[in-house]
Amino acid sequence: MKFFLVLVGAVCLAGSIHAQSTLGTTVTNAINTSKASVNTAIQQLNSTINAADQSVATAYTQFTQSLAALYQTYYTRFQNYTTIDLSTLSQTIQNLPTMMSPPQPIQDWSTNQIFTDVQSSVQQVETTLNAAVQTMTNSCAPPCANAAKVATCTTKWGPKLSTAPITIDRITDCVTAELVRFSDIGSNMASMYTNLLTSASNYLKVVDVCDTPAADVLNNPSPMYGSPSIQCLNTYLQRISYMPVNSYVVDSMRYPQTYLIQFRVQRCAKLVELDVKDRVAKVLESFQSCL
Ligand SMILES: *[C@@H]1O[C@H](CO)[C@@H](O)[C@H](O)[C@H]1NC(C)=O
Ligand SMILES: *[C@@H]1O[C@H](CO)[C@@H](O)[C@H](O)[C@H]1NC(C)=O
Ligand SMILES: *[C@@H]1O[C@H](CO)[C@@H](O)[C@H](O)[C@H]1NC(C)=O
Repeated sequence: MKFFLVLVGAVCLAGSIHAQSTLGTTVTNAINTSKASVNTAIQQLNSTINAADQSVATAYTQFTQSLAALYQTYYTRFQNYTTIDLSTLSQTIQNLPTMMSPPQPIQDWSTNQIFTDVQSSVQQVETTLNAAVQTMTNSCAPPCANAAKVATCTTKWGPKLSTAPITIDRITDCVTAELVRFSDIGSNMASMYTNLLTSASNYLKVVDVCDTPAADVLNNPSPMYGSPSIQCLNTYLQRISYMPVNSYVVDSMRYPQTYLIQFRVQRCAKLVELDVKDRVAKVLESFQSCL
């Protein structure tokens, strides 16, 4: 009889230990799988940001080249006429590369901060889950008086630790939600250069308000009919030489949007972290009351 009880006790203890080691493996597996997903999501987000930066950089290069070409058409159009002063325009064309600044890349400290903060929330949840597994496991430290009960309660409440909503995947969702937004910011920035070029082109058209004089008039200006056009051209060619190019508007459009994303991901990850911690605490409470 005594032997039988010991045997039952041993079987129960074995059952409990089995439930608990399974719990440990299940939770670790879930954590590992989710961590792989969150890392993939971070890599995707990073690639999206890098691709956006690449497309914006290409748009900027095309913009500067098109703008230079645009100025050059005005230079070429009037270069053979000694009566037209093109020195300022020529200066502008030369200085064009230094007049404008390339856009600030989206890939900066703030995107790094997103990744760091997301990883930190993942780490927090992982620690909380491991601690919860430990708590359940330690509740049957030998000699385990209520092994059968522990096994039942572990089987009942343990799986909650690796089932939605207690999952790191919710943090991954915070990251993937922003993929399309970063890529939108990239295309919005790139398209702003198209707009800038259009408005530059329109601005340069002010030159066309001067009746373009015939070549012989330009070559032999006479006070009678040549001069007003030449004065007009000289005036407007000077003016377009000082055309303001507000290429910084691209950056000022982008900053508020990227900060908004940074803020959203960080808040989302933090809220998920706190919510999961809260739910884990409730599972542990239920587990304790079950014992
Ligand atoms: C989880 O990942 C850790 C660290 O990479 C590894 O040591 C462990 O064996 C993995 N566990 C499972 C159950 O996959
Ligand atoms: C993101 O991409 C940049 C540029 O390639 C790289 O320097 C950085 O290490 C990447 N970050 C992560 C978290 O992979
Ligand atoms: C300017 O002069 C050059 C050389 O004489 C000539 O090849 C070119 O066609 C002229 N350009 C214009 C716009 O008249």
